[in-house]
Amino acid sequence: MTQTVLEVRGLTRRFGAFKAVDGVDLDIAEGEIHALIGPNGAGKTTCFNLLTGSLPASSGTIRLRGETISGLGMDRIAQRGLVRSYQISSIFPDFTALNNVRFALQQGRRTNFDFWRSELSLTGLNDAAMGLLDDLGLSDWAEVRAGDLPYGRKRALEIATTLALDPQVLLLDEPTSGMGREDIGRVTDLIRKVAAGRTVVMVEHNLPVVKGLCERVTVLARGQVIARGTYDEVAGDPRVVEAYLGKAHA
Ligand SMILES: Nc1ncnc2c1ncn2[C@@H]1O[C@H](COP(=O)(O)OP(=O)(O)OP(=O)(O)O)[C@@H](O)[C@H]1O
Ligand SMILES: [Mg+2]
Repeated sequence: MTQTVLEVRGLTRRFGAFKAVDGVDLDIAEGEIHALIGPNGAGKTTCFNLLTGSLPASSGTIRLRGETISGLGMDRIAQRGLVRSYQISSIFPDFTALNNVRFALQQGRRTNFDFWRSELSLTGLNDAAMGLLDDLGLSDWAEVRAGDLPYGRKRALEIATTLALDPQVLLLDEPTSGMGREDIGRVTDLIRKVAAGRTVVMVEHNLPVVKGLCERVTVLARGQVIARGTYDEVAGDPRVVEAYLGKAHA
């Protein structure tokens, strides 16, 4: 039987009188790649901020492997294995790709000491960083300044620095945004690869990517879940069509 790794009930976040996230329930199964989709302003990023603890919820509960994590700070949630991909802005542009990953590994050693204590004592920081770069197709770019990397490689580096924390549940917010077709293909392959042995929840506007990658999809609109199921199930749901196109086209 599949285990639920992340269980969210009644998650709500108000900004003044406005509910950006309004009573959201989510069940994320161990090992799946789950998409969170919906039109602009639906509340997807706010949901991620609530899940990672970077924003406190107004109400609702979040359980990670049965333990309540709502109310814990970002660091403690990351320690328990739920990590969101770093944003490009958190990559140090003047560091090489290799040094960015080395730095992230040092951070990861602090947040996830047991894992990296054994790993790093075997291989050393440098080898571990090179291994991660290699996994992400970045070994040829190791000595390049992060700020000089092409856009798609920067996103791959962002994922590498996140993987350095060895998350069990990885949240990716629009991993393919702003990419050309070639980079999208590469990042899609990469997500499939890093998803082995982990759970991935991703916000993604590119629907062919969602269709190709994600086992299950949750659709948000105006802060509420309006559909859930496989891609084909939700794509055929009239409420989803209406949310994307507006009433006039439904
Ligand atoms: N700090 C904030 N203060 C006030 N309103 C906010 C704040 N953060 C988000 N919102 C509002 O909450 C709603 C949901 O925003 P959110 O960024 O979560 O949407 P999203 O689904 O990620 O959209 P997009 O697809 O455009 O990234 C929007 O109406 C947004 O303006
Ligand atoms: Mg967003």
